[in-house]
Amino acid sequence: MILGIESSAHTLGVGIVDNGKILANSKRMYDIKESGMIPAKVADFHAENVYDVIESALESAKINIDELDGIGYTKGPGIGPCLHVGQLAASYLSYKLKLPIYPVNHAIAHIEITKHLAGFKDPLALYVSGGNSQVLGISNIPKKHYQVYGETLDIGVGNMLDNFARAAKLVPAWGSTVAKVAEGGRYIKMPYSVKGMDFTFTGLLTNAVRLLDSNKVSDIAFSLQETAFSMLTEATERALMLTGKTELVLSGGVAQSNRLRSMLMDMTKSHGIKFYDADNQFNADNGAMIALVAEEMYNSGATFGKDKLGINQRYRIDKVEVLW
Ligand code: FE2
Repeated sequence: MILGIESSAHTLGVGIVDNGKILANSKRMYDIKESGMIPAKVADFHAENVYDVIESALESAKINIDELDGIGYTKGPGIGPCLHVGQLAASYLSYKLKLPIYPVNHAIAHIEITKHLAGFKDPLALYVSGGNSQVLGISNIPKKHYQVYGETLDIGVGNMLDNFARAAKLVPAWGSTVAKVAEGGRYIKMPYSVKGMDFTFTGLLTNAVRLLDSNKVSDIAFSLQETAFSMLTEATERALMLTGKTELVLSGGVAQSNRLRSMLMDMTKSHGIKFYDADNQFNADNGAMIALVAEEMYNSGATFGKDKLGINQRYRIDKVEVLW
């Protein structure tokens, strides 16, 4: 049984898995509504709550702490002070319980848990979150790793939607609020920017913010979503055709968007490609995904020395060798 700690942003999550079975997925979230994401404050919140959330995960899994076989934590990417709390808690548990410790890439964890729940072998993945937007798949050249086929050349689609929400004074200023406001909106032409399998969002954002002076918020929110999600769908469709992969998973925080799901569902259906999108508790940041990848690393027999056990705020997914 492996315990995983996720602490890269405002969610503190602890998950426990046993042979791929998720026994616990406990979490507590720092409330960003009032003061935003001040790294030191979020890290304080994680430090104050980490042992409670570990307790709650052990309780839901109905196991004792000494039944664990390994500990995983998020090495990155993420916010430095927040990552440090998870790493420190994991190091302490590993030292105290004499268990192996596994540094996990957050983006890989998002994709791997969706792939695992789908039961897919070799899917293409659209990974969309606040800071990231990438189209990826496993490649074996030169070593087994996640290859980035396409990605945002500026900001992540989640940040773009949050920034628009802030400019439009929506409360809370999140993508899910933009989705609510978009209901019943009408389409206004927006700049559409896909280059091969890469895409950009800042031009779209600037245009949408500018239109706020003279248009209905619901029309702009609707058009912004339609345009951004169409761009992601087009890039994903091109990557599917080029790689010949026959399965697609949608992962990450923005995977909670019903509109993006439905666009991808229509696109994959038209090509006879299998599509899977996980339950929202696994699309949002969570500890189970970290435990799951740590278990895959554990099963591979890999061990990690001190030099591999830090944190890395800019830990790129394509720099990680997939050992399982
Ligand atoms: Fe995430």
